[in-house]
Amino acid sequence: MRKPIIIGNWKMNKTINETLAFLSQVDQQCSNLQVEAGIGVPFLSLQQAQKNANNLIIAAQNCHYEDNGAFSGEISIAMLKEIAITHVIIGHSERREMFNETDQTVNLKVKKLLANNMIPIICCGETLTQYENNETNQVVESQIEKALQDISANNVEKVIIAYEPIWAIGTGKTATAQIVENVCNIIRTKISQIYDQNTAQMVRIQYGGSVKPDNIKELLSQPNIDGALVGGASLNAESFLGLVK
Ligand code: PGA
Repeated sequence: MRKPIIIGNWKMNKTINETLAFLSQVDQQCSNLQVEAGIGVPFLSLQQAQKNANNLIIAAQNCHYEDNGAFSGEISIAMLKEIAITHVIIGHSERREMFNETDQTVNLKVKKLLANNMIPIICCGETLTQYENNETNQVVESQIEKALQDISANNVEKVIIAYEPIWAIGTGKTATAQIVENVCNIIRTKISQIYDQNTAQMVRIQYGGSVKPDNIKELLSQPNIDGALVGGASLNAESFLGLVK
């Protein structure tokens, strides 16, 4: 059985103090959840958040694929490991669109994280134009194939995929549970074609895009949706608890 996983993607929101205030309100209440839950906080807050979270996973929102070197402004996997970070969001559409993230850099990062026993949360998803042109399946399949290139079946089991149609991110327009289920099924089928049925059944696939306390239940009741990656609705303590409880 795949345990659902709900991660808040905070993007460039909240200072360290604001993060600690959130954790003091929320972390204790997350001790006996039926899902895994966590927050993806800005790099600067990771260390203190990690120290103050007993129940929530503290995730990073990016990393570099090189071990070290002349990459001003970047953060290495060793730096994240040293502060016990285990999960890293990779290839979010905002990073693809605004910070030159490509399928190739996504693959390099995923490989490096897995080699370090860390868990990549790999984002994929189509633009509005691609959606309107019925290109969703093709776009997402290609993103998944490229992200998983040269990754063994043993390793791919640990990966989390986040299907996030770009037209649903921060727009208030959630894709219907049926649309999401269809695409998550396409993703799982693709994984079973690259690897095998058993492997595909192990991989958790989240949905992201305007997930809120009032629509999460229907989304998570679908057979191929194993959790959510949540932006806006994860920033407020009450709303976050409404998502994970
Ligand atoms: P949203 O963002 O929930 O605010 O739509 C989701 C995401 O970008 O991961």
